[in-house]
Amino acid sequence: MSNNQPVGVFDSGVGGLTVAREIMRQMPDERIVYFGDTARVPYGTKSQGTVLRFVRQIVSFLETHDVKAIVVACNTASAYALETIEREIDLPIIGVIKPGARTAVRATRNRRIGVIATDATINSGMYTRFIQSIDPDVAVFGKACPLFVPLVEEGMLHDFVTEEIANRYLKDLKTQNIDTLILGCTHYPLLRSLIGKCMGDSVTLVNPAYETAIGLKAMLAEHDLLAAPERHDLPPRHRFYVSDGAEKFEIFANSILPYDIRKTQVVDIEGY
Ligand code: DGL
Repeated sequence: MSNNQPVGVFDSGVGGLTVAREIMRQMPDERIVYFGDTARVPYGTKSQGTVLRFVRQIVSFLETHDVKAIVVACNTASAYALETIEREIDLPIIGVIKPGARTAVRATRNRRIGVIATDATINSGMYTRFIQSIDPDVAVFGKACPLFVPLVEEGMLHDFVTEEIANRYLKDLKTQNIDTLILGCTHYPLLRSLIGKCMGDSVTLVNPAYETAIGLKAMLAEHDLLAAPERHDLPPRHRFYVSDGAEKFEIFANSILPYDIRKTQVVDIEGY
């Protein structure tokens, strides 16, 4: 395994780009191979067996790119598949839930944490499990927000319809006196300003991406896999793959990444 092999990053769609963006920021020498499962998004309404099958296929695909490590940049896949996949592959692999839980426990003052995520992530109870394994006295309040994912995939980040839906979803959480709210789906940081407006200034929003990138760096260092310094005057050599809709994905990616991606390729992921 060489240090200059890429890191595989995947999500059900565009949400994982929020994690890829953070990795690019914190580790500019690392190369990323990103896969967005745009043909099969959303994962959050599917069963554990289905999500696990999808994740196995994506991991096989990433392995064909000789990745040195994998980032599961999707809470739903982290909740439903990470513990199984960890046992099945030899590569270092990291998800987003543990880093998110750690950050939230550090941030809370009144030990009341909210989690918004997909149905799957909320029903898995993973955030509660990890948070309470760090501090059993923290109360965790979960709320599934299933419509957020299609709204983000449609690019409706600042739309009044999205704002109205956010107000409805977050109404109950606002009565729970939480001081910290985990954006427990990698699509949600793209709605950060709208969610922040709805929750008010007294609630700290936690985006697990930041701590995940820190965790990735530590994991690569532990395996002696950190990339050698690159020449930053050259264009980044990341690669992007999706299972459908490359053009739409590219437009979206170019609106949130720090540089323009040039070519997104479509992969027949069912073949892996
Ligand atoms: N972005 C993903 C997550 O973090 C999944 C959204 C979905 O596909 O439902 O959970």
